[in-house]
Amino acid sequence: MAMDARELRNLFGHFATGVAVVTAKLPDGNKVGVTISSFNSISLEPELVMFSLTNTLLSLPAFESAVSYGINFLAADQQEVSRRFAVKGEDKWADTAMRHGESGAPLLDGALAHIECSLHQRVEAGDHVIFICRVISFATPGATKEPLVFFKGRYCGIETPAPLCQSA
Ligand SMILES: Cc1cc2nc3c(=O)[nH]c(=O)nc-3n(C[C@H](O)[C@H](O)[C@H](O)COP(=O)(O)O)c2cc1C
Repeated sequence: MAMDARELRNLFGHFATGVAVVTAKLPDGNKVGVTISSFNSISLEPELVMFSLTNTLLSLPAFESAVSYGINFLAADQQEVSRRFAVKGEDKWADTAMRHGESGAPLLDGALAHIECSLHQRVEAGDHVIFICRVISFATPGATKEPLVFFKGRYCGIETPAPLCQSA
């Protein structure tokens, strides 16, 4: 059956996700970062997480040469940060408040949570590369903030007060 790529992409958009900015420290000291929705946790023993990057990403070679990665879960008040790190080829760092974590990975101010990690396994999958990474350290500096949610191509928040959220 021939599939319409746009319709399939729309279908994928019906799966609500959080939004993160994945950053990388490069061997020459430079840094890169892109907005992603493809984060997932994988394993506790060992501690593994993953994200996938499209082959057309200008910064893909930089990500592949990285020393370490920072995964920054964005808060609902960080739509602007998400947009900035989703613009192709732009200097995404000019107005970005950040610090370097213990691995050197750039960690963004205002994020819900940070993970620092290093490459465990690289998997080519169609038009994306899956980065499976081993967690080095983690923190939840914005634990009381609402998450930024991406659903059907739009940004949303979770309006339900946390005490009223239903058990899964
Ligand atoms: C909410 C959102 C989620 C995204 N998720 C991904 C993703 O998981 N993987 C990916 O490769 N690009 C994703 N993108 C697109 C990239 O952020 C965008 O292509 C990238 O910043 C361009 O970087 P470049 O200048 O290195 O090409 C997403 C964009 C948005 C707005």
